[in-house]
Amino acid sequence: MSENILSIQDLNVDFQTEAGVVHAIRGVSFDLKPQEVIGIVGESGSGKSVTSLASIGLLARSATTTGTILIDNQSVTTMSEKELSNLRGTTVAMIFQDPMTSLNPVYTIGWQIVEALRAHQKISKKEARVEAQRLLELVGIPQAEKRLDNYPHEFSGGMRQRAVIAIAMANQPKVILADEPTTALDVTVQAQVLQTLRTALEISKAALVLITHDLGVIAGFADRILVMYAGRVVESGLVDEIFYRPAMPYTHGLLGSIPSIDSVSSVRLRQIPGSPPTMVGTHTGCPFAARCPLRKEICLTEEPELKLVAASTNSSIGSEHRSACHFADEVVEMPVASMFPDSSEDFSEESK
Ligand SMILES: Nc1ncnc2c1ncn2[C@@H]1O[C@H](COP(=O)(O)OP(=O)(O)OP(=O)(O)O)[C@@H](O)[C@H]1O
Ligand SMILES: [Mg+2]
Repeated sequence: MSENILSIQDLNVDFQTEAGVVHAIRGVSFDLKPQEVIGIVGESGSGKSVTSLASIGLLARSATTTGTILIDNQSVTTMSEKELSNLRGTTVAMIFQDPMTSLNPVYTIGWQIVEALRAHQKISKKEARVEAQRLLELVGIPQAEKRLDNYPHEFSGGMRQRAVIAIAMANQPKVILADEPTTALDVTVQAQVLQTLRTALEISKAALVLITHDLGVIAGFADRILVMYAGRVVESGLVDEIFYRPAMPYTHGLLGSIPSIDSVSSVRLRQIPGSPPTMVGTHTGCPFAARCPLRKEICLTEEPELKLVAASTNSSIGSEHRSACHFADEVVEMPVASMFPDSSEDFSEESK
């Protein structure tokens, strides 16, 4: 028995499409310990959502999945639909980008929380309603007792996402999977919902997989980060290692593109030129090579493994700093994002 609440080993997911086989996930492995927060970042199409959907058995039928997925030491890939749906309501909870994916527009918020509670616990409707009110209060909905009788459309976007967090907490999950939970919200509401999520974790003692394309959301929230590109984990490590000593040029690129309040106004944002590869068919070499300013011959012919970064300061199992770059040990010594052109350089190129 392992102490990990979620353990994914060598996950591969292919989709059969008209354009050919899409290799959406290629050899993803990671473990999540109880109460740990892992952030998964990467551009659109890198495989973040497919990884989280696979881990709870929610992928489309067109998907072929190989690898091992254990949640609380139970194998997700061999579970029946009934076992899976029980697992989803109890051990694991999900929060998606659009709260209306989780909420039913024709039922009141209170009814939906009561149903979530009564599906997995033997309690009366009356007791469940008292608990539903307590949960709405916990997630910061004012006048919770009255609000229980509102329909989702009577809530603001931020309130709806908080109601979803309340439902997620209803049966004391051991792990919460949140896929872009704040992306659809404006910045101030984003901060409030993140704070609610933090409170939910403190109270429920759940572990969290937080998926986002925004590294700013992860800073100060996650313990560890997985950076995904072209269906693989291309860098992983503790938050500080990833932010201050990134060892994969792609991560440098992501870090260069986040605006920071304390950066001097003359510091320009840097962008990664080009776009990610399509995942159809097979490719040779490093999938980032076409966009990488440091690429050399070997990058075009050999796909690098996710290896330990030699100069890593942390070596405890699961938290090691790893990078899938042939030149990781040089990249880790470079100033963050310095290898990418800043937007002013781009502009001067265009105006020539
Ligand atoms: N049902 C499907 N059928 C075919 N291809 C799919 C399917 N679902 C996902 N994919 C492909 O799998 C790859 C990974 O998709 P995924 O949704 O995981 O990306 P993501 O990292 O979550 O991106 P985003 O930031 O846009 O949400 C993409 O190339 C996508 O087109
Ligand atoms: Mg996604």
